[in-house]
Amino acid sequence: MPPPLHVAFLGGTTGPWETISSTAVVGPGLEPVPRLAVVEGGDAVPEATWTLRGFTSNERYVERAERTSLVERQPGLGRAEAEAAALIPIRKSPAWWDLTQDERRAILEDRSQHIAVGLRYLPAVARRLHHCRDLGEPFDFLTWFEFAPADTDAFDELLGLLRASEEWTYVDREVDIRLMRSPSAG
Ligand code: HEM
Repeated sequence: MPPPLHVAFLGGTTGPWETISSTAVVGPGLEPVPRLAVVEGGDAVPEATWTLRGFTSNERYVERAERTSLVERQPGLGRAEAEAAALIPIRKSPAWWDLTQDERRAILEDRSQHIAVGLRYLPAVARRLHHCRDLGEPFDFLTWFEFAPADTDAFDELLGLLRASEEWTYVDREVDIRLMRSPSAG
């Protein structure tokens, strides 16, 4: 596995991503901001209206055959045509964190098909999962997705399937921030 990549999402007035919408799906939302910057690596980040931090990590749930399918199909971030993005911070309930690893895997995949369903939307959607529960952040995960604007309906369909799943009954805070890449002065 590559070493963890620390990533800060800065909501404010600068950055290459323009906010299209910010929706509180479950629990409180985040203050609306016109733009978003994504800073990888370094720990010193500029001031912003809000800053969410996370890091990439080893996989917890993926099995070998799933890893093979993911590696075959998943595109990287930063594709020229992927001008639309979504930042979806998520927190799961104490009941989720009280489960054991095998119980969580059973919910996430055996009963919710998170990975099998997600694979159907590859390679249209590029993704990167950031963990932040151990940082004492307000969310447990910062999920980041990039796709062509023409694939927005497909992305919404995927979200609808996941939000209707048993796994999502454990989500107690979720904010859905949609963005479009657009030049900015900052
Ligand atoms: C684009 C297709 C998608 C694929 C292929 C996919 C695949 C995966 C995989 C393989 C994992 C498990 C990683 C591990 O083993 O630790 C995972 C975790 C996760 N995914 Fe997705 N996913 C997709 C879309 C989404 C969407 C749309 C959301 C909703 C915002 C989402 C939210 C999450 C979260 C929060 C986790 C962490 C779950 C946990 O550790 O409890 N994913 N995803």
